[in-house]
Amino acid sequence: MNFENRTRQELEEQIRLGTRKVLRHLRGPMGPTVDVEEVGEVICLCSNNYLGLANHPDVVAAAQAALRKYGAGTASVRFICGTFDCHRAIEEKLAAFSHTEAAITYTSCWCANEALMPTITGKNDVIFSDELNHASIIDGCRLAKPRERIVYAHRDATDLEKKLKTNQDADARWVITDGVFSMEGAVANLAKLVEICKRYDARLIVDDSHGVGVLGSNGRGTAEHAGVLGEIDIITGTLGKALGGAAGGYIAGSQDLIELLIQKSRTSLFSNALPPVTACSAHKAIELLERDNTLINRLHTNIAKIRQGLAKLGFECQDSPTAIIPIMIGDEAEAIRKSERLLELGIWVVAFGFPVVPKGKARLRVQVSAALTDAHIESILRAFAKL
Ligand SMILES: Cc1ncc(COP(=O)(O)O)c(C=O)c1O
Repeated sequence: MNFENRTRQELEEQIRLGTRKVLRHLRGPMGPTVDVEEVGEVICLCSNNYLGLANHPDVVAAAQAALRKYGAGTASVRFICGTFDCHRAIEEKLAAFSHTEAAITYTSCWCANEALMPTITGKNDVIFSDELNHASIIDGCRLAKPRERIVYAHRDATDLEKKLKTNQDADARWVITDGVFSMEGAVANLAKLVEICKRYDARLIVDDSHGVGVLGSNGRGTAEHAGVLGEIDIITGTLGKALGGAAGGYIAGSQDLIELLIQKSRTSLFSNALPPVTACSAHKAIELLERDNTLINRLHTNIAKIRQGLAKLGFECQDSPTAIIPIMIGDEAEAIRKSERLLELGIWVVAFGFPVVPKGKARLRVQVSAALTDAHIESILRAFAKL
């Protein structure tokens, strides 16, 4: 079948199954409420705007100042045309924030994960990857050319340990995991992973895109939550969620690792840098997070209130400190119908189905923000009571 007919058939099948994704358009900024075209003002529970900084006046002012100072960008990749001093500044900030020697930014965490694995993996290395790792980790691992890629059972330290007993003669062994799993809201047991990796002489890589700005009493992420800040070999993360919400990603690790990435990683060698507007808005977001604990405390309070409220209403919520609360539905079309009903009730919650989650495990995913007020939380729980 030719491409045109094949595509039409696939798209029509999605409509028939009720699983077609529709892109909605917002007529204003991201906040606790958003103005959705054809819907109107609704409470937003589907953004990763965990700290509510996406439209914070100081973040916006930093972006405006950056645009005036640097313009749009260098119109070139960094190693050819140089880099702005604001890139160096945010990279130093990210390294200090992550308790590592150095850091490098990319235009997204997807690009960071895709940069990392092929750059660090030698042909006699072995990668051990959690079975529910994010798609960008999976694709990064696919691009690498190790001796073997081994998938261990989700958050299963015993299975990982069993697998680490194999391939002990490899040159380097890399264990890679999400800090917070984006579809489950579950947290990797980093204290245990640090201990196992030390015992088996393996290096630990954590993608903390959903942990940074959320977990830990200072919002430094899953490592802080687990009491192992400074003990993770390599951390990757995004600037497109809690830390300003625009776009951008980073890798934090040793000075030599960052130098190697500058020399060899393909998504920086052959692609432009993070726009300076984003470097400066994300930098401001980190400063706001570091200024005091108001934002992180508010987020933790909101998470507890919403989790407890949903549990009281009879929704099964896993016990977890993260801002991601999945409500399991099973059937994808049913999950989509439920999210549409919530939208009618003024609450925007997205349904996820295959291929984002396994078939038959469709769910609604509630995401909590520090920007939600008590009045928003009451409205949310009233809508779920009706659902
Ligand atoms: C765990 C994880 N890693 C990486 C990414 C990609 O982040 P970015 O949007 O910066 O490419 C995401 C985004 O959904 C994610 O959830």
